[in-house]
Amino acid sequence: MQTVQICDLCVYDDLVAVASSRLEGKTWDGALTLYLATPSSTTTADTPPSSPPLTLTRMHVQSTTYGIPALAWCGATQAACNGSSPHEPPLLAAGQDNGDVVVYKVGRKKGENLQNSDREAEETVTLVPLTTLTDHDDIVSAVAGGREEGGDGKLATGGWDCLVKIWRVGMDIVQPMSSWQAHRDHVTDLAWRGREGGREGGGGGRELASAGRDRSVKLWDTRMEGESLRLVDAHPQIPLALAWGGNASSLPSSSSPPTTLPPGPSPPPGLDGVAEGPLEKLTLISNLNLKWGAGEGEWALCVGFDDGSVEVLDLRLLPPEAKRGGQGVRRRGVERSNEASILPSQRTFLTCSPPSHAFSRGQVIMMASSTSTSAVSTMETVHVSLGDRSYPIYIGPGLLKQPNLLTQHVTGKRCMVVTNDRVGPLYLSTAEHILAQSPSIQPGDSLVLPDGEAYKDMPTLNLIMDAALSTKLDRKSTLVALGGGVIGDMVGFAAAIYQRGINFIQVPTTLMAMVDSAVGGKTAVNHKLGKNMIGAFYQPQCVIIDTDTLSTLPDRELASGIAEIVKYGLIRDPELFCWLEDNMEKLLAREPTALGHAIKRSCENKAEIVALDEREGEAGIRATLNLGHTFGHAVETGLGYGKWLHGEAVSLGMVMAVDMSVRLGWVDREVYSRTVGLLQRAGLPVALPEESGMDLEKFEATMSLDKKVSDGVLRLILLKGALGQCVFTSAYDVEVLRETIRAYC
Ligand SMILES: NC(=O)c1ccc[n+]([C@@H]2O[C@H](COP(=O)([O-])OP(=O)(O)OC[C@H]3O[C@@H](n4cnc5c(N)ncnc54)[C@H](O)[C@@H]3O)[C@@H](O)[C@H]2O)c1
Ligand SMILES: [Zn+2]
Repeated sequence: MQTVQICDLCVYDDLVAVASSRLEGKTWDGALTLYLATPSSTTTADTPPSSPPLTLTRMHVQSTTYGIPALAWCGATQAACNGSSPHEPPLLAAGQDNGDVVVYKVGRKKGENLQNSDREAEETVTLVPLTTLTDHDDIVSAVAGGREEGGDGKLATGGWDCLVKIWRVGMDIVQPMSSWQAHRDHVTDLAWRGREGGREGGGGGRELASAGRDRSVKLWDTRMEGESLRLVDAHPQIPLALAWGGNASSLPSSSSPPTTLPPGPSPPPGLDGVAEGPLEKLTLISNLNLKWGAGEGEWALCVGFDDGSVEVLDLRLLPPEAKRGGQGVRRRGVERSNEASILPSQRTFLTCSPPSHAFSRGQVIMMASSTSTSAVSTMETVHVSLGDRSYPIYIGPGLLKQPNLLTQHVTGKRCMVVTNDRVGPLYLSTAEHILAQSPSIQPGDSLVLPDGEAYKDMPTLNLIMDAALSTKLDRKSTLVALGGGVIGDMVGFAAAIYQRGINFIQVPTTLMAMVDSAVGGKTAVNHKLGKNMIGAFYQPQCVIIDTDTLSTLPDRELASGIAEIVKYGLIRDPELFCWLEDNMEKLLAREPTALGHAIKRSCENKAEIVALDEREGEAGIRATLNLGHTFGHAVETGLGYGKWLHGEAVSLGMVMAVDMSVRLGWVDREVYSRTVGLLQRAGLPVALPEESGMDLEKFEATMSLDKKVSDGVLRLILLKGALGQCVFTSAYDVEVLRETIRAYC
């Protein structure tokens, strides 16, 4: 189940920034979306022909690991920003659920010498994280940008820690100024008094209004360390949004009527006291925002509603008496109560409701009037839910090239990409280029290791340690694993042990790594006495799956990954199994949508299993991922390592496990023939090669050495019941196991 909320929005000239938070499962994440507003040529029945409505074109989407309850432009005056172009927007500050405020630099390039209609096609708008302010201890629920006359900008932030903090904002720097406890409960909104030249939050950057869940609205002198100037206590309801009226003499505040939510499942973590009810009914954090548009024309007022819709009211279209307002307007649980209120008559309307349709799984806003770029609109996100170690898996074409996706998960100033001499020449420069675009990341050295399973060992791991130390990676630095399962497993383990654990990001480039090894946190290197014998459970910050990288993968490697996808079908996802039967040729032809679907379903299956049983506990949920692996391991060892790829050995191993299940009478023979048929279509082996030299004894010898032996009894994953059901058991007739093995030797 998914809930998306528009949490805040702000306008600068013709740029509209919208912050949203999304609940998926039990975790929130967010997105920042920038729109360009232009007068559109089409006229709807809603608006008189003489007054053109606005069209919003989506220019940029930045997904974030945390929800974004609050958003504001902030920065110095243009005069102070000497050298910057007049079109250069100020900084954008985003208050996050985790207590951080991320300040972004907005890059805007206008197309030149173009007609108005072509302009937005030529324009680019980008967001680059500039700095992260980490001083709040809880959700940052309010941010507001102000400005001293002719001088530096100011930023006010307020949070669930009841504090208000003031920051000085220079061109490329944000510094703390003061902090005080402003309310007895969460701060819900902040607004600097007055506006200057039509810019939001001008007016000297001195007086600041704050609203709190303690039902008070307060006015502060921020130069006096937050001395209270005025207090409106006992607001009839909790004030949720503040916006100074045009002449800075009135302060509309809005509130939502108290909502009683029906009883339901327990609230998501971190939202205590607010959410009691079915998750799709949640209305929380900030269900209403009023923001004055900035810019010379003061043309827009943005209103976000708790049903996920956003409205932009074009003030130029309103009759003068409506601008002056006068009476309050009540609509959809929203109360606007005084002079500066805007009547929603003749408005330019922008809606994206219901929210579940407005946002696809990949955090993409599909607004009626917006255009989308393929790289963004086809991105899917799967979440691995592991409490505070949860992380997203992004899946889609072109993701490695997407600005900000990789960089937003890089922590610390230093970052080292580790790859091998096969993948490096193909994709390393792309990754380095993207990292170089972030001003907060120092260009680090990348490390290119020799390719192959033979190098997944301690000496090679040591090379990573040497490079990390000599490039001075510290505890905040990030390792990026760019490659297949070998690189992913080894770099993950390096990250787990370097300085007792640093962050790492998985960028898998083989299908095997995308559907299996990069997900779930098993990291390891091999020892000469056993595969993956030295390792750790260690989760990445995120997994970025760029399906375009599969274009260079050899066919055999592709098929090897398909074996693991078939495995998910057999152990728990009969729908996926049937889908594979219908779409195997498309998958082999590397059709992007087919690849995307198969990878996404695989990641979802693995993420669900890992969330239930991260460390392969006794109950054996995670162990089911080893279907076919015990037989396969014997085959890999028997044939000699490196002869068959892992997925190829698993293919035969699964055939043997299904065969044994049929012999035990636990599944229909039809499941066996469908499995064999599917694997053969993928070009995977379903029998041993001629003269393999394998026999029952060799099988038994390697199988009893296998780590799935507990108390001397070999536990196996076998199918039992309908397609998609399996058991992890030692309660089978050993003679049937022997009979099965003999049938293949
Ligand atoms: N951690 C886990 O849960 C888990 C699960 C399954 C497998 N594994 C491990 O994963 C490893 C196998 O992974 P793998 O199959 O990805 O092998 P791999 O990493 O060796 O990659 C296979 C080959 O393809 C090359 N390659 C990678 N990406 C490419 C691309 N885009 N284009 C062209 N060539 C490319 C590699 O350099 C290598 O030569 C094993 O070590 C296995 O133990 C781990
Ligand atoms: Zn496997």
